[in-house]
Amino acid sequence: MTSHIPYLELHTSNMKLITIAIDGHSSCGKSTMAKDLAKEIGYIYIDTGAMYRAVTLYSLQHGLITDAGINEEALRQEMSDIMITFQLNVETGRPDTYLNGVCVEKEIRTMEVSKYVSPIATLGFVREAMVDLQRLMGEAKGVIMDGRDIGTVVFPDAELKVFVTASVDVRAQRRYDELTAKGEKCSLDEIRANVIERDRIDSTRAISPLRQADDAIVLDNSNMTIPEQKAWLLEQYRRVASE
Ligand code: DC
Repeated sequence: MTSHIPYLELHTSNMKLITIAIDGHSSCGKSTMAKDLAKEIGYIYIDTGAMYRAVTLYSLQHGLITDAGINEEALRQEMSDIMITFQLNVETGRPDTYLNGVCVEKEIRTMEVSKYVSPIATLGFVREAMVDLQRLMGEAKGVIMDGRDIGTVVFPDAELKVFVTASVDVRAQRRYDELTAKGEKCSLDEIRANVIERDRIDSTRAISPLRQADDAIVLDNSNMTIPEQKAWLLEQYRRVASE
């Protein structure tokens, strides 16, 4: 059956509704490819990094992060006051992140938030709250979730798991281009150091460290264009959903 709307065409065919887990290193273009696929096949896209970023922004706004470090006890107490939701932005066609009803899509992408998000994401009580929320958001399937532990912890039974990576230099350059395009002043060296440091913290933390699920397909996109990655992911989806 054909339709002028691509996702209708896919849904009216014999495609199964599945869960797609996209994990990998920071700044390797996971979210771009995940968002594009979600739009194309009519799935819900959840950026789980944005959720950890929103908790970090809340902590900064409420003085829970100071030179002395993170006030873990206060954050633990306040976790139930942190409400994170996503709303589709009709202009971009992509979901925006809301913290307690306020759109924080721009604020959560700053270097300041990037600097503190990995330590916040190592805290067990933060992870538990986020994982519960992520499972709730994805329980009906038809969802593409990107993060670090989606295929290993959040949805270990996901039908399609992709582990994305790219070289440190390529990732730092992409992050630099993204931030400067938004008008933020930053240095490539500082971003490169942040990418390396986040890899280290994400991969060595005690709870749910970043690792490739045994049944994930690896994609190194260092030398791929965005349209090439998009086509590759659509192909993987079609293969798995039509099995
Ligand atoms: O994908 P990102 O760069 O926006 O993620 C921000 C941070 O959140 C990153 O340092 C790792 C952490 N994170 C995580 O621990 N688990 C996830 N599922 C997603 C992100």
